[in-house]
Amino acid sequence: MCGIFGYYGRRDATPILVEGLRRLEYRGYDSSGIAVKNNGINIYKKSGKVERLSEMITTEVEGTIGIAHTRWATHGEANDINAHPHLSFDGKVAIVHNGIIENFREVRRNLTQKGVELNSETDSEVLAQLIALELAKGSKPIVAVRRILKRIHGTWGLCAVFSDHDQIIVARNGSPLVIGKGTDETFISSDPHALMEHTQEVYFLEDGDLAEIDHTGFKITRMSGQLSSTEVTVLEEEWGEVELGEYPHFMIKEIHEQAEALRQCIAGRTRHKQGTVKLGGLKLTPAEMRAIPHVRLIGCGTSLHACQIGQIAIEELARVPAVAHVASEFRYNNSVINPKAIHLAVSQSGETADTLSAVKEIQLKGGSVWGIINVVASSIARQCGMGVYIHSGPEQAVASTKAFSNMAASLILFAIQMGRTRSFSAERGRELIDNLHTIPGQIEKYLANPGPIAEAVDAVIGAKSVLFLGRGVSAPVAREGALKLMEIAYIPCMAYPAGEMKHGPIALLEKGSPVVVIAPNDKLKYKTLSNIQECKARGAKIILIHEEGDDELAEEADISIAVPKSEGLLSPLLTVIPTQLIAYQAALKLGHDVDRPRNLAKSVTVE
Ligand code: G6P
Repeated sequence: MCGIFGYYGRRDATPILVEGLRRLEYRGYDSSGIAVKNNGINIYKKSGKVERLSEMITTEVEGTIGIAHTRWATHGEANDINAHPHLSFDGKVAIVHNGIIENFREVRRNLTQKGVELNSETDSEVLAQLIALELAKGSKPIVAVRRILKRIHGTWGLCAVFSDHDQIIVARNGSPLVIGKGTDETFISSDPHALMEHTQEVYFLEDGDLAEIDHTGFKITRMSGQLSSTEVTVLEEEWGEVELGEYPHFMIKEIHEQAEALRQCIAGRTRHKQGTVKLGGLKLTPAEMRAIPHVRLIGCGTSLHACQIGQIAIEELARVPAVAHVASEFRYNNSVINPKAIHLAVSQSGETADTLSAVKEIQLKGGSVWGIINVVASSIARQCGMGVYIHSGPEQAVASTKAFSNMAASLILFAIQMGRTRSFSAERGRELIDNLHTIPGQIEKYLANPGPIAEAVDAVIGAKSVLFLGRGVSAPVAREGALKLMEIAYIPCMAYPAGEMKHGPIALLEKGSPVVVIAPNDKLKYKTLSNIQECKARGAKIILIHEEGDDELAEEADISIAVPKSEGLLSPLLTVIPTQLIAYQAALKLGHDVDRPRNLAKSVTVE
């Protein structure tokens, strides 16, 4: 989604800004631009990839102060004019903005009445115009920005440069912004990954923070003008640059990293002798865990599917009610919050606006939220203050793979820890832990010989739609498989719990309709088998993901993909992988940009 990069120092800003934008590309965007201060403010912006922008910057733009942006369109189509930066009517201010200005219509109207002509269709442009009007009254840049933000409703990660001042002013409210401290230079980004090559010393701005950046460094203050309490964070190595290595795309690299990522997730967290798990970041005693009345899990997209696996694992192992919720719905449904309950916010990026808002809503109502997060020190992780890092390492492809597995694994670990305080024996705990430790090796074994993926791809790429079915823990896997294929191959996909198929989607089945069925050898296998028969009776082509050696089931398939045998609850960690491979290969075959699918973003920072 939208990304910000900024530079203040002694070096030529342009190449640093363009490189910063390249590091933000993985988030998904549709246009980009830079503004560099020299005698005035020089702006270059272009729809499409950063590559197009850099081709456009033919003459050397000199200047050591600049801001840059990748835009993911919300207000106004993705064209050159709507791209950021936006310049004020008098050419004195340029801004880049992440977030949404909710009262922009009213602000636009006021500006038009004052005779200010707006160039773009964006909500963001009004910020440049308002700041310019405020500067014209004689205000200093920091005062101007602080004043105009008091009139804005919405969210912002904002950066402004000025033709008449050697300063950058930045502000945050609900949209992340990080300042990186270099030697005699300062960097700004909405994403700490983009700062890593320059510095490890960063300041994550809090909502309501502003910063004044100049040749002396920077000063972070609050909207009230008081000094902010925001402190330095030292970024860990894990945030470092991610290379493709021998792989053609990040998605396939990350699919193959799943085994190692899972090892990292489990490492040091299991206690074999006691048959339990210790997730230190939960900061919960066994007595506190025993007293929990229910668990609610909140997430979006792939993370929601991990929540749905967590729901089943927690109910099964801990025997405590658990429900997975769509974050964007939960936030606005005036949910009843029990302060004694556990709320788990699940997110790869830790920046998803819908999930972050839901966290704040729960906290406002007196509830406690634990984060199940990949990106260390991200907004949700910091907002929760406690939880579990899933340790997938950086995930670059928009379509999530290794983070899904580790979110599901972390929730299973949570369920084991909670379960041991309430319902099952050390022996059962040891069995689960042992089985979990075998999964990474099984993932490697499967990936070395993934079966007839190419055949499955041929069956789905020409289809009008693809139906994914599964029961129990395989129902969320079916949803995740469908999401993946839809996200990157742009094939309409539908996922249903297999038993619900006869209540609707069966109407779509005709001769040759591809149906992907996830059917591990668990207690629901024979139920799923009946649904397979129902599909076959209508001519559907069955692509079956099943357990190795389960010939009884394999015989029913047109295309049979076998994964290693595992304990039922852990099976999603294996059965999801063929669905990832099918999506990847299908997108490749259709000639799509696998890592950066159209319209989608890696980190969705608007509601
Ligand atoms: C976006 C991405 C999805 C992701 C979802 C939640 O929609 O395209 O792949 O699952 O956000 O992201 P999160 O970072 O909260 O896990």
